[in-house]
Amino acid sequence: MNTETPSETPAPAPERLGILLQGMGAVASTVVAGVFAARRGLGLPIGSLTQMGHIRLGKRTEQSNPLIRDFAPLTALDGLVFGGWDIFGGDLYDACSHAEVLESKLIDQLADELRGVKPMAGAFDPNYVKRLNGTHVKQGTRRAWADALRADIRRFKADNGLERAVLVNCASTEVYQELGDVHQTIDAFEAGLDADDQRISPSMLYAYAAIMEDVPYANGTPSPAADIPALSALAIQRRVPIAGKDFKTGQTLMKTVLAPMFKARMLGVRGWFSTNILGNRDGEVLDEPSAFKSKEATKLGVLDNILEPGLHPDLYGELYHKVRINYYPPRGDAKEGWDNIDITGWLGYPMQIKVDFLCRDSILAAPIVLDLALFLDLAARAGRKGIQEWLSFYWKSPMTAPTVYAQHDLFVQLAKLMNNLRHMMGATLITHLGTEYYED
Ligand SMILES: NC(=O)c1ccc[n+]([C@@H]2O[C@H](COP(=O)([O-])OP(=O)(O)OC[C@H]3O[C@@H](n4cnc5c(N)ncnc54)[C@H](O)[C@@H]3O)[C@@H](O)[C@H]2O)c1
Repeated sequence: MNTETPSETPAPAPERLGILLQGMGAVASTVVAGVFAARRGLGLPIGSLTQMGHIRLGKRTEQSNPLIRDFAPLTALDGLVFGGWDIFGGDLYDACSHAEVLESKLIDQLADELRGVKPMAGAFDPNYVKRLNGTHVKQGTRRAWADALRADIRRFKADNGLERAVLVNCASTEVYQELGDVHQTIDAFEAGLDADDQRISPSMLYAYAAIMEDVPYANGTPSPAADIPALSALAIQRRVPIAGKDFKTGQTLMKTVLAPMFKARMLGVRGWFSTNILGNRDGEVLDEPSAFKSKEATKLGVLDNILEPGLHPDLYGELYHKVRINYYPPRGDAKEGWDNIDITGWLGYPMQIKVDFLCRDSILAAPIVLDLALFLDLAARAGRKGIQEWLSFYWKSPMTAPTVYAQHDLFVQLAKLMNNLRHMMGATLITHLGTEYYED
């Protein structure tokens, strides 16, 4: 253990942790069913760093690589309790069946547990998600919705005897909107709640409710929520960790691996055309242009940030980047993400790379929800507050302090995450700086 870096010594993990999900559709039902399945030995939590990942400690000669969940105090899968909200009723068995992500044989094996998780009524404004007509929704004004969400959180904790909970936004993507004065300060936001200001979106209300109830919050969608200045400030004021936004799962995950490689080798990129076909409810919502605009904003930022065309005008100054999402019902949740990349090499000679990722959207997103919930609870117990940049690894559009740019390179993000865990636990940071080749 290192004596130079002060340990943040997180309090021991609670035996039981609540995971509240805003939106209980494909992603949310897949993570809950997945945890139930893993608990019963019906499947492995593949894709989850907290469950499957190891962390190197000390020098390579020390051969110390414990599992992350043995190194950092995290609640075990057996201790997780799920709840949440949706604008459609039913229960998680219905949600899993509707999503068609998991095989019906597995869903049936988990039926009793899944039937036991019933979404609470959602806070919903159809102007923010135009393709859905919610039937299981709260009534009243924005202040009333916020109060009701806060009461839901308190009741969920009391009913389940929980000391701690985390909230993850897995709801439909909301329409794009420019931020206004009501989003800038805590006072303006509070006044906006009282005035039922329509510029406050449902996702902002859930984030507000979580922060006010001291519940760490993560935003898996591109919708503006805890990242608006008013709520980021509120999270610091109330000492609540927040993180976001938009799970990095498929095409953008590939981009944040390939683009750093091009830059590392000083290969040019002239064009990057990305198109997706998917047929789940998310695809249907994103087919609506104003919802796609929110997604486009989080998808497009990545390349400029990684490639830094300002520093490398000859290599990336003329990069043409295009992203398309097409709703195509026959594919359901089995998305196809197709990329054509036009790169240049020595003396400007052109080459091409094609990536065809036949992925499964919710299968890729589910482990991220689990990891974020466990890591955010750890951060809270370590006394951290506000934006948790060390969790950038999980985001298409990582939230950062206003003074710095986001870090998108997946392996820089991973190094940052691991070093933050080491720091929290008082272990030596790994800098890859060894002077003796066998010592670093
Ligand atoms: N790989 C991925 O699956 C992935 C990656 C990145 C981001 N996301 C985002 O995650 C979100 C969820 O994706 P999904 O595939 O589960 O979508 P989904 O449509 O299956 O589920 C979303 C659920 O949210 C509910 N909902 C909508 N508005 C609500 C509100 N105000 N309150 C409560 N519930 C509400 C809907 O009824 C629906 O059941 C989407 O915003 C999507 O863009 C998904």
